Amino acid sequence: MENNKLIHIAIDGPAGAGKSSVAREIATRLGIAYLDTGAMYRVVAYKALSLGVSIRDEEQVTALAGKIKITFGPGGNPEVYCDGQNVTTEIRSPEVGRAVSVVASYPGVRECLVNLQRQEAAKGSVVMDGRDIGTYVLPQAEVKIFLTASPAERAKRRHRENILAGKESNYEEVLADIQKRDRMDMERKHAPLKPAPDAIILDTTDLSQQEVVETIIKIVREA
Ligand code: DC
Repeated sequence: MENNKLIHIAIDGPAGAGKSSVAREIATRLGIAYLDTGAMYRVVAYKALSLGVSIRDEEQVTALAGKIKITFGPGGNPEVYCDGQNVTTEIRSPEVGRAVSVVASYPGVRECLVNLQRQEAAKGSVVMDGRDIGTYVLPQAEVKIFLTASPAERAKRRHRENILAGKESNYEEVLADIQKRDRMDMERKHAPLKPAPDAIILDTTDLSQQEVVETIIKIVREA
């Protein structure tokens, strides 16, 4: 990567593969923007739950996605806002975690959020993490990474994060949730989770976060 060259980095993969921590660190290291697209789907699910809109009501959930304003804190800051309200903690609740795959399966919701994601990419260099960034949102991205790890390892990481955050956590339940979400994300009709044909697949089961970051930075510098 030459200095000042525009670069779009797509980081896709299943839940718990470490995408957002890795993507955020890469954006900071390169001094470019970061967009957590999973957080956008979570905001829509959170808003529906908090307004008492049934998650199964595709029409109402889709209308909601078109109406709400999703914003992020400045400079890779993990804060997420919905219509001006800070919902950073709320969107990580188990209820939102269970509802979000349903919300993300609605084509109208996806269309609306994908438009916003492409608008962000049009502004300049960005690291974007999600499920369909390399395949659908930014098919022209210069660097595409598909991060993965075994379900057991991903569940172990999520479980550890929960405990560190002082949340109640049961490893077996975390594993079952991850497996269910993998299935829903991979089997949905619209933009399912799968690596782009030109993505570099990185299995992080036996790698530290630092090793993953360094590997991707090297790939970016050679792009
Ligand atoms: O990465 P995450 O766990 O915060 O993602 C939340 C949900 O949103 C997950 O079920 C998959 C979905 N998602 C998606 O369908 N497309 C994206 N680009 C990002 C997330």
